[in-house]
Amino acid sequence: MAMVQWFPGHMHLTQKAIAERIKAIDVVIELLDARLPGSSANPMLAQLTQGKPALKVLNKQDLADPDCTVLWLAHYNAQPGTRALALDASMAAPAKALIAACHALAPSRGGMTKPMRVLICGIPNVGKSTLINTLAGKRAAKTGDEAGVTKLEQRIALAPDFYLYDTPGMLWPRIIVAKSGYNLAASGAVGRNAFDEQEVALELLDYLRQHYPALLEARFKIDGAADLTDEALLEAIGRKRGALQGGQQINLQKAAEIAIFDFRAAVMGRISLETPEEFAGWLTLGKTLDAQRQLKKDAIELDRKIRFKQIPRPDKRAPS
Ligand code: G4P
Repeated sequence: MAMVQWFPGHMHLTQKAIAERIKAIDVVIELLDARLPGSSANPMLAQLTQGKPALKVLNKQDLADPDCTVLWLAHYNAQPGTRALALDASMAAPAKALIAACHALAPSRGGMTKPMRVLICGIPNVGKSTLINTLAGKRAAKTGDEAGVTKLEQRIALAPDFYLYDTPGMLWPRIIVAKSGYNLAASGAVGRNAFDEQEVALELLDYLRQHYPALLEARFKIDGAADLTDEALLEAIGRKRGALQGGQQINLQKAAEIAIFDFRAAVMGRISLETPEEFAGWLTLGKTLDAQRQLKKDAIELDRKIRFKQIPRPDKRAPS
């Protein structure tokens, strides 16, 4: 299967903008999708933010499996200089808890002489605009055209001594965890044209079949979902939902769209696509495969250089 890859050009600029902005930042909020916290995180953020206190916000918790969210909160809260909370970006009270968490992470900041400066990052569609609107309400003061604030970011005053710096969405520069690509696509974070719905639906069903068979069975009125192959499950969904073409043939594309839509809208129930432990395993595997791919690429490049006599054969080199 081809991996889902998506890296719009403006992402580079964002990283530069962040590196510049971070110098005068007290807390970095990373907005994550509670259904796929590991996959929706930016692995370069820690490096870019140079050990600044971090607040991980697991958004869309209303769609995620609550048991799984508890595991992720514990996972992040165990990291030094890090706090985590889960919320639904449209709810005002939990959003306000975020302000208190920033003060707890940077207790020396606050007041007009030392205003709290918070950077907020998150991949597209994770709910950043919703959260900012909930937090800022009518008091939102966009001051993006001020000197020192680049066009790529906005400064929003949540209080006279509390500034939120908003950056455009970021994603992995290169997705090395294949499963993350699929999970991001299933969640709606990746543009439609960047993935194949059938592949994404099969990966999604593979996970749901193993972790949430009862939800699948109830939603699609299918027996023994856990024992079906992913392909048979997709066909069964198509059949049950009348996704047919040319008589009785199942329209797999339509069936895939139904499965993805139902997951996104949480009509099957609250579902998460990864636990911290699962994600750690995928990451280790992804890194190993990536290193192997790199070695192979290096070997091909070396061979090319030797063939085109850009460098001598290693065995014919003069002893050093
Ligand atoms: P972004 O700025 O990070 O790109 O995301 P935005 O706030 O636009 O939110 C993307 C979609 O996610 C919106 O749906 C929004 O309502 C939804 N959303 C944000 N936070 C939450 C949450 O905590 N829970 C739930 N259930 N949904 C949330 P939308 O406007 O319907 O967008 P779309 O469905 O048309 O893509």
